[in-house]
Amino acid sequence: MSELAPVKRLYIKTYGCQMNVYDSERMADMLAPLGYGVALRPEDADLVVLNTCHIREKATEKVYSELGQIRLMKLARQAEGGTMTIAVAGCVAQAEGEEILRRQPAVDLVVGPQSYHQLPELIARAHRARGERLAADFAPEEKFDALIAERRPTGVSAFLTVQEGCDKFCTFCVVPYTRGGEWSRPAGDIEAEARTLAEKGVREVTLLGQNVNAYDGANDTGSGLAGLVRRLARIPGLDRIRYTTSHPRDMDEALIAAHAEVEALMPYLHLPVQSGSDRVLKAMNRAHTAESYVRLIETIRAARPDMAISGDFIVGFPGETEADFEATLQLVREVGYAGAFSFKYSRRPGTPASALPGQLADEVKDERLARLNALLEIQRIAFNSAQVGRTLPVLFEKPGRHPGQIIGRSPYLQSVHVAAPDRLIGEIVPVRIESAASNSLAGTLTLETV
Ligand code: 5AD
Ligand code: SF4
Repeated sequence: MSELAPVKRLYIKTYGCQMNVYDSERMADMLAPLGYGVALRPEDADLVVLNTCHIREKATEKVYSELGQIRLMKLARQAEGGTMTIAVAGCVAQAEGEEILRRQPAVDLVVGPQSYHQLPELIARAHRARGERLAADFAPEEKFDALIAERRPTGVSAFLTVQEGCDKFCTFCVVPYTRGGEWSRPAGDIEAEARTLAEKGVREVTLLGQNVNAYDGANDTGSGLAGLVRRLARIPGLDRIRYTTSHPRDMDEALIAAHAEVEALMPYLHLPVQSGSDRVLKAMNRAHTAESYVRLIETIRAARPDMAISGDFIVGFPGETEADFEATLQLVREVGYAGAFSFKYSRRPGTPASALPGQLADEVKDERLARLNALLEIQRIAFNSAQVGRTLPVLFEKPGRHPGQIIGRSPYLQSVHVAAPDRLIGEIVPVRIESAASNSLAGTLTLETV
């Protein structure tokens, strides 16, 4: 008999943004060599990781209450003679640090977003001695060097982190505190990872960063995100490039020009504005006005007329009046969004806005959110309906829910359902769009493909 280590099981619960989804996938990749496979339920796991997000109100308290539940599972396993290791990762880990270990002693380790490369070591230590528990240093380069070899993609579309952190300090936001300052990965490392992905069948990458268009890794095609995009566009097989999330302040001419010139760069831009009121934008420290944002969108659309615009909005920021909110609706009408995320302002401890006077009642926020969402929904349906009758290139990603159906994405990130053979998964194929719903399109293969 060989001396194989016993199979251990890992359960990761992911909260929040795409960055966390990406980080969770990579944590799972990194732990696979230690013998960790997937557990479907936390009670079956030898290692439970909560990959936390700090952006929502009461997020920290929710994590503590979840940890209380997991502690009971740990006790149950121990009663049966087993063990369970509990790790807290993500932004709450970064923000709370050792406090988590004090408040919930069942937690074995806390690991901030910059220290995931130390996870295997930390897990090993926890298994052996319950020794050093906290990793809260700050060395992003090491993190990526340690992670690059671990990448095992599945599917035809992959995320690729190119930038982390934020120096913008919007007054409502915790990210500059929890993820630290802006930092860009070297372009060479990113290209190496993108080539590996492409060799494994990935056709589309989404470049990720809290402030991705602040990317400033220099390289032979010029500095900035535009240079990086041009460099990645040369990689054989990598036919689609996307990026998210961008700040209006960093939307430079070079990037706009890339949208006009680089075929692989998809015509979809997530460009949060947060509010349409200059008074509120100033209090948010956004460093743009409603007008400068609308002008920027016009410039982008002049370069790429079919650009789909998406955004983020916050309603009910402290001091927001009905007139301020109307200005947001007006901006939405002027821009015409393909889709957007809207949030009720939530008071994040430690951020400047949490201490502002004029905090609004929840009913006011609810009512404004409903009005904004109704307008955004109308726009999304209009955007989707406008594709009916067009033939769009669709990158097929996976089988659909119904037999004989597969699902892909249009250039504008819309989900497209088509009756077509599975062998087209991984291919970019022209599809005639026949109908539109609020969240997806349906189409048929054009004659040439059938
Ligand atoms: N309250 C409400 N929404 C917030 N966001 C960030 N912080 C807060 C907060 N305190 C939203 C912003 C941001 C998105 C990721 O989350 O719209 O763009
Ligand atoms: Fe937060 Fe503003 Fe930075 Fe976005 S730009 S991460 S909202 S501080």
